[in-house]
Amino acid sequence: MSVPLESKRITISTFKKMKEEKKKIACLTAYDASFAAVVEDAGVELILVGDSLGMVIKGLETTVPVTMDDVVYHSRCVVRGSRRALVVGDMPFMSYCSPEQALMNAARLMQQGGVHMVKLESSTTQIETVGRLNDQGVPVCAHLGLRPQSIYKLGGYKVQGKDERSAALMLEDASSLQEAGAAMLLLECVPSLLAAEITANVDVPVIGIGAGLDCDGQILVLQDLLGITIGKVPRFAHNFIEGGKTIQEAVRAYVDAVKNHRFPAPEHAF
Ligand code: KIV
Repeated sequence: MSVPLESKRITISTFKKMKEEKKKIACLTAYDASFAAVVEDAGVELILVGDSLGMVIKGLETTVPVTMDDVVYHSRCVVRGSRRALVVGDMPFMSYCSPEQALMNAARLMQQGGVHMVKLESSTTQIETVGRLNDQGVPVCAHLGLRPQSIYKLGGYKVQGKDERSAALMLEDASSLQEAGAAMLLLECVPSLLAAEITANVDVPVIGIGAGLDCDGQILVLQDLLGITIGKVPRFAHNFIEGGKTIQEAVRAYVDAVKNHRFPAPEHAF
């Protein structure tokens, strides 16, 4: 495993500056030390220890059964394998039902998992929680749009914000979450035009997945990039290992495509 010489961690200020300078942010998920080092060496600036680990690591059907123990364990592995990337830990289903519960679990994720930011699937309901976390010095990424932890309520993995009412609500939630202190937003499966409007409307960096080219950065689940998705490949995913590349080459190709505005292409967007 090669360890980059650069030891200075990227911070949220780096991402704010990148947004101002219109430089794209390359993000990926990782769940262990080896892949954390690979993606970081390829130029990925943000690593998410996503609750997608439920599917890609544990073979579960959804993210719903993922636990705090799971995310803490995998976060610790990723943080050990990285030197430079900002590591974000996902707060699992039912781990942030009240501000108090969120504070306890975010503290655990930062202290035991070692992450530098936590991510919460967010809507109007989480505004107070985001504010309380921010007050206590916890950097928060608010995940809007398709929220896979609510899959049974949403009735499937569907694009969100398609009609006027839900689009207006998402725009409003994005502003309110920023106001409450969210340091970053993540938009999943959101129409490109709406994602572009949200990105232009907030000062914090906006990372997209299935949210078009105009977000400040892009993220994919690492396994989708490597063409080893279990089951149905999401429309927003792209297999970067095609053509006989090594894993390292595939991740570099992804970073290059994000940085040079070639990914996502129109066929990956809604
Ligand atoms: O859990 C995860 O990997 C995520 C990404 C899909 C953004 O939330």
